[in-house]
Amino acid sequence: MRVLVVGAGGREHALVRALARSPQAPEVLCAPGNPGIAQDAELRPEGDYDGVDLVVVGPEVPLVDGLADDLAERGIACFGPSAAAARLEGSKAFAKEVMAAAGIPTAGHWTVRTVPDGLAVIASYPAVIKSDGLAAGKGVVIAADEDEARAALHEMLVERRFGDHPVVVEEHLAGEEVSLLALCDGERAVPLAPARDYKRIGEGDTGPNTGGMGAFSPLDDFGDARIAEVVATVHQPVVDELARRGTPFHGVLYAGLMLTAEGVKVLEFNVRFGDPETQAVLPRLRGDLLDLLERCTRPGGLAGARLDWDPRAAVTLVLASRGYPAGSSSGDVISGLDGIPGGIEVTHAGTAERSGAVVTAGGRVLNVTALGEDRAAARSAAYAAAAMIEFEGAQLRGDIAAP
Ligand code: AMP
Ligand code: GLY
Repeated sequence: MRVLVVGAGGREHALVRALARSPQAPEVLCAPGNPGIAQDAELRPEGDYDGVDLVVVGPEVPLVDGLADDLAERGIACFGPSAAAARLEGSKAFAKEVMAAAGIPTAGHWTVRTVPDGLAVIASYPAVIKSDGLAAGKGVVIAADEDEARAALHEMLVERRFGDHPVVVEEHLAGEEVSLLALCDGERAVPLAPARDYKRIGEGDTGPNTGGMGAFSPLDDFGDARIAEVVATVHQPVVDELARRGTPFHGVLYAGLMLTAEGVKVLEFNVRFGDPETQAVLPRLRGDLLDLLERCTRPGGLAGARLDWDPRAAVTLVLASRGYPAGSSSGDVISGLDGIPGGIEVTHAGTAERSGAVVTAGGRVLNVTALGEDRAAARSAAYAAAAMIEFEGAQLRGDIAAP
């Protein structure tokens, strides 16, 4: 069995490692990968699927662009939804329309195309302003007042920072966030362990949104009964609705949830694994990830699938480069990677190799994951390991997985 992971980040590194643990002893490839992934998989150039039995797509962009459809035409099995189903992530307006059709609770919202129309629909602040297109987690602004709202609407609709897309203005929801992902085979949704992600760059959830600065799993207040309830009211209705429309969802459906005083509401859907949630969730999965992902590619293939989890806690920290998330820096030499103790997983995200040294090459650079008997133990092990890694301008939030 030859499995190829598409992507080059920390999530793909975690997928490569989890697939390599399969008892099927697969040959694991990655395209294009990065210097860390190269230690665990054979790297291929992008677009080279020669002799590959299963393609596992990491990021959303190729899915929205139709990679799963292209591979299907070539007779290559692909873990990841078709372009039609990937619109759940590619267009927030489409996701809202599916949620309305399927009766899924979410924030009230309006789609607007001009700055005055945007300001006119906002009844109170804070208000949430989202670009309708893909923006790597950075196209969302929580505007505290009208000035911030005007600036955000201007950036998205006039300057078109994220391309030529309308804007979704949303009611602000207060509460704790949970990332609950489910594997889907076109007919049913089977949940993965929940995780919490830290979206803002600054401690205490301050500053701009990022792709995610850290994560932990499991969540104390989100046990099996709660998971089953959310899957029944969120993930399964989406799978049913897309099947009804003739565009069944195969792959992993990521629901970003807010636990509000009025119950669970959906913030967003993604059509791929979370980053960095995957780095905290997959080390806890017992059993054969390769088998599970392969089953998702077949209609009804997950029948009888049961997922089993290591009861220990996992904490993942993200080391980001100077300037992230507004920009990023590259070429800063990374030291300390050789001294990391066994049992700690360091996955590479934005790294490159230059004259034999590993250097920064992107916003989120490295992830450090530790398992522990409880969250506090995992947290202190992760921070101790992260403290050994150095590069110029490194950013690390100090409050990931804090009690
Ligand atoms: P999204 O890309 O839609 O998930 O938004 C990114 C992040 O922005 C979320 O994870 C939340 O932290 C925040 N966010 C998005 N929508 C809302 C909302 N309606 N109310 C409060 N926070 C939100
Ligand atoms: N960590 C957030 C995401 O993967 O979208």
